[in-house]
Amino acid sequence: MEFYEAVNKRHTSREWLDKDVDFEVIKRILDAGNKAPTWDHNRNWQYIILRTEEEKAYAFEYAKRFAFKFDAERYLNAPRPYPITLGQKMYGYAVPRQYTMLSTAPYVIIPVFRSKKLNGETVSKLNPFATIWCVIENIFLAAAAEGLSCSMRIPLNEKHDIVKEKLKVPPTYMIPVFIGIGYPDPKETILEQYHPNVEEQLHFGRWK
Ligand SMILES: Cc1cc2nc3c(=O)[nH]c(=O)nc-3n(C[C@H](O)[C@H](O)[C@H](O)COP(=O)(O)O)c2cc1C
Repeated sequence: MEFYEAVNKRHTSREWLDKDVDFEVIKRILDAGNKAPTWDHNRNWQYIILRTEEEKAYAFEYAKRFAFKFDAERYLNAPRPYPITLGQKMYGYAVPRQYTMLSTAPYVIIPVFRSKKLNGETVSKLNPFATIWCVIENIFLAAAAEGLSCSMRIPLNEKHDIVKEKLKVPPTYMIPVFIGIGYPDPKETILEQYHPNVEEQLHFGRWK
């Protein structure tokens, strides 16, 4: 698939076809992740792969509770002093799927990157985190090029350490995201998104 076609095709999916994914394809996608730029030249991230229902249920027990206790109807229909935003519509759609978008995906990939603790004092101190997000975006685009799609969930606050402990990730690594990969269900609703106009984002020489 041509590069811009993959870029334009990529979108977050939260519903899957009941169709197996060849593990050779997953390896190709992760190898595309490994081609990402890296801040320290070491490329020492690793991937944890979850395949079985038991593995996913064990890892994401907390996400299940979070998703199932959320009342989407109430949230979406709550009285607001302004019309509901696209972001709020997305939140109302996505939250109830935070568990199933991972548990029903044929594969969950958990990239882990070398860092004991995040230090956001300066932008450059976040280089390890920035690097793993380059890896993640390569994975998303490679999945799109393979006709697959991804869901993503960020470990919420202290849940990061809980999942890390459950999966026996060494203390020197952190988890940036949980990625579900599968064939997207073409019947899934695609919510409207904001698409900035690049012409309006340009500042030549300086901001103003
Ligand atoms: C940093 C980051 C965090 C995100 N966290 C979540 C998440 O926790 N759960 C979720 O369902 N989607 C999450 N998303 C996906 C966004 O909802 C999605 O990318 C956005 O709505 C744009 O849609 P698109 O990916 O289909 O273009 C996240 C995306 C990013 C970049």
